[in-house]
Order: sequence, then C-alpha cells, then structure tokens
Amino acid sequence: MINVGVIGCGQWGPNHIRIFTQLPNTRSTVCADLSEQRLAAIKTSFPHIQTTTDYQDILKNPDIHAVCIASPTNTHFDLTREALESDKHVLCEKPLALQEKECSYLKDLSIKRNKILMVGHVFLFNVGIVRLKEYVRCGELGRVYYAHATRTNLGPFRYDVSALWDLAPHDIAIFNYVFDSAPLRVSARAQRCLDTPRDDLAFGTLEYPGNIMAHIHISWIDPKKIRQITIVGEKKMITWDDLDDIGPIKLYDKHVEKTNVCYKTYGEFRLLSKEGGITIPKIESREPLEVQDQYFIDCIERRVPADIADADKARAVVRTLVAMQESIDRQGACVGL
Ligand SMILES: NC(=O)c1ccc[n+]([C@@H]2O[C@H](COP(=O)([O-])OP(=O)(O)OC[C@H]3O[C@@H](n4cnc5c(N)ncnc54)[C@H](O)[C@@H]3O)[C@@H](O)[C@H]2O)c1
Repeated sequence: MINVGVIGCGQWGPNHIRIFTQLPNTRSTVCADLSEQRLAAIKTSFPHIQTTTDYQDILKNPDIHAVCIASPTNTHFDLTREALESDKHVLCEKPLALQEKECSYLKDLSIKRNKILMVGHVFLFNVGIVRLKEYVRCGELGRVYYAHATRTNLGPFRYDVSALWDLAPHDIAIFNYVFDSAPLRVSARAQRCLDTPRDDLAFGTLEYPGNIMAHIHISWIDPKKIRQITIVGEKKMITWDDLDDIGPIKLYDKHVEKTNVCYKTYGEFRLLSKEGGITIPKIESREPLEVQDQYFIDCIERRVPADIADADKARAVVRTLVAMQESIDRQGACVGL
C-alpha cells in the first residue's frame, strides 16, 4: 500500500485526493493547505483524510511514501526539494519550477535520493493525445508542415503566474511529446487585457526540428472553452478536440496532389487538392488524471523512472516557457534555445 500526502487543496488538489483514494494499492491519508477553510471543505468530501495547515506534518510522517504537490507554481521548487530531501517520491503539478536550473537540481536530487520525480503533464496521459502521437510517429500524415494549438476559456484566472505559465505548459509538453523533440527557436507576444497583475493572453510560435512550425494561442479571456490541436502533414491532416463528444481525433484524408503548380480555374485547383474522407477512430475514454496518477504509483512500485513525464521532460517545458517569456519581454523577438 502506497500512502500519498497531498500538499495544496485549492481547485485542483482535491482531484488528486479523489483519485489517490480510489486507486488500488494507494491511500490518500493526509493533506495540507494553508487555508483552514479549504481543509474543512476537504473534510466534508473525504471524511477519512487527516488535514493539517503545516505541510511539514506530511514530510516528517514516516508512513507517507509519496507526496503530490498541487500548490501555486512559485512554491513548486521549494516544496519538491523539501519532499525529496525527506525521502518522499514526488508528483508535482506543472510547471515543475520557474527556472531550468531548478529542474536540473531537482532531477539530480531525485537520483541521489533514489526517488521518483514526476511532473503533472496530464495531457501526456490523455488517450486522444497518445493516439495523435501514434499517427504522427507511424508516418500516416507524411512530413509534418505545421501544427497549432488553441487553449482558451473565460477564466479561471490565476494570480501566481500569467496565462502563458498556466496554460502553455500543456501545449508545449504535448508538442514535445508528439514530435519527440523540443523547440529550437520561439517567439511570443502577450497582453494584459484586464486590470490584473499578469498577462491573460499569449500567442507563441515554436520552431521544431524538421522545419515544423507550431503555434499556440492561450487565453483566460475568450468566449469559448477550446482545447484543440491541428497537425497538417503532406499526406493527411489530423485534429484533436478534447471536448468533442463524438471523438477527440479526426483524421482528414486531405492533401495537395502537387505543389508548384499554377492553376487558372477553381476546377483545376479542385483537381490538385485531394479531399478524401474523415476517419474518427474509436477511442476508449479514461480520466487522464487517473491514468497519470496510476502511472506515478506504478513507477514507485516497480522502481522504474517516470519516463513519460520525468524531470527532463519538465525541464524542456520550463526552458521553452522561459524563452517565450524572454521573447514577450522583447516584443516578440526570436529567442534561440
Ligand atoms: N494539470 C492540470 O490540468 C491542472 C489544472 C489546474 C491546476 N493545475 C496546477 O495545480 C496547481 C494548483 O492549482 P489550483 O488551481 O488548485 O490553485 P489554487 O490557488 O486554487 O490552490 C492552491 C492551494 O495551495 C495552497 N497552498 C499554497 N501554499 C501552500 C503551502 N506552502 N502548503 C500548503 N498549501 C499551500 C493554497 O492555500 C491553495 O488552497 C498549480 O500548479 C496549477 O498549475 C494543474
């Protein structure tokens, strides 16, 4: 039985508590939050769980094997470091830290302490994203020309980080995973539309090896909740829509037969652009957070590194975020990585 302590019981932490309570071989026994009010709410939903306002109670408890950190981003590095120093396995919410060197430090510490360190890049455990990667990897799309991601909604607003640092980690982690690489160069612009301390809107362009251009649009101030990705290849095109009830993946048998041809009429153009059918593969749905947290527990039990979302993957995301932030600060200048 793996006992997990959860630090941070705001909007997201209770989801981890629910899942660690449900998973076999796992117990969510103690949780910590600075707010007595939040802890009272947790006690109502999970009467079995012990609560504390001092996370040290979790770190000093020898019966707790692993810690899940779901506190604000600016606390991630210190809490993860202290948890590893207390010989706990750690699952930390994204992004792992605010600087690349902090991710490297935590990686080295986890190796030294022989503990699993994993980051909550939950979309890497989303079956639709896993299928997206399979289509790209097996060459179904042919050479990839470009990709774009949209992640928008009206809120929820965060006060510890900007919309870029809140939402873009998901799409950067997805693109790094799908293309099995990391960006070579980035540029980004951001804006503070509302009277809040942080940018609530950002557009970023990431250049991946193989001349793949990937674009990210993230916003806290948008009329629609959208979680979509499009990848355009020379043979086929694919879309992922996390909120589509029919199925998240659509594979479009569409491409242009020949390039470098000037067409004189619309009819000639239609001969050149091949418009085939759309395939919607059946994809079994499972809550990605449950898959992620189960994987964390499996890695602890089997004593294998959490390769899918380890400190290296976390560092690549943080490195990209830092470069995008630098580009924003320099009005969209191209920043090499
Ligand atoms: N993977 C995802 O899809 C996803 C979704 C939402 C949030 N998150 C991540 O989860 C984390 C938390 O997000 P949230 O929306 O729940 O934020 P939140 O602000 O609602 O909750 C954070 C909680 O942490 C508590 N806290 C702060 N410092 C603490 C400390 N030292 N000890 C104990 N508790 C402490 C706060 O009191 C608060 O209740 C963030 O890193 C966020 O990026 C991930």
